Amino acid sequence: MKTIYLIGFMGSGKSSIGECLSLLLDVPLIDTDAAVEEKYSQSIAAIFKEKGESTFRIYESAALRDTPNTNAVVSTGGGIVENKGNTNYMKSGTVIYLHTSFHEIKRRLQYDQKRPLWNSRLEEKEQLYKLRLNLYKSCAEYTISTDSKSIEAITNEIIAKI
Ligand code: S3P
Repeated sequence: MKTIYLIGFMGSGKSSIGECLSLLLDVPLIDTDAAVEEKYSQSIAAIFKEKGESTFRIYESAALRDTPNTNAVVSTGGGIVENKGNTNYMKSGTVIYLHTSFHEIKRRLQYDQKRPLWNSRLEEKEQLYKLRLNLYKSCAEYTISTDSKSIEAITNEIIAKI
């Protein structure tokens, strides 16, 4: 099978759905954020703080390019689509956009402290969300809504599509 790339905003469920998909399809799960943290032995928050967002983006793009284009599920970071080279790279696989409303994301991430870009003013977060919507849509082969659906239901929906 072609590698499945899960894209979407922070809190859209890429990691949990990725885990479930990789178990059901019996292929490895690669999480680009986890790969960066492991390679540099630093949390994403520490990389943002000490080296800045632009360095994180370089690390993230390199982690994406290390992913195979067959037989894997890749859970990406919410900003992966900001780089055109990344969106082109993912087109070798099946790109699935997990769409979640901003309202639902706010609910899911209300206590989140670990995401540097969620740690800003509400208007800035909403602006980022709106800006990214089109990037996700134009990169994805399939869009799946995740509001008020279980992880299992979303996973089955993805499997039915691929
Ligand atoms: C980011 C999303 C995060 C992580 C980093 C930047 C973003 O991943 O890559 O904090 O730019 O939206 P998740 O989407 O898994 O939260």
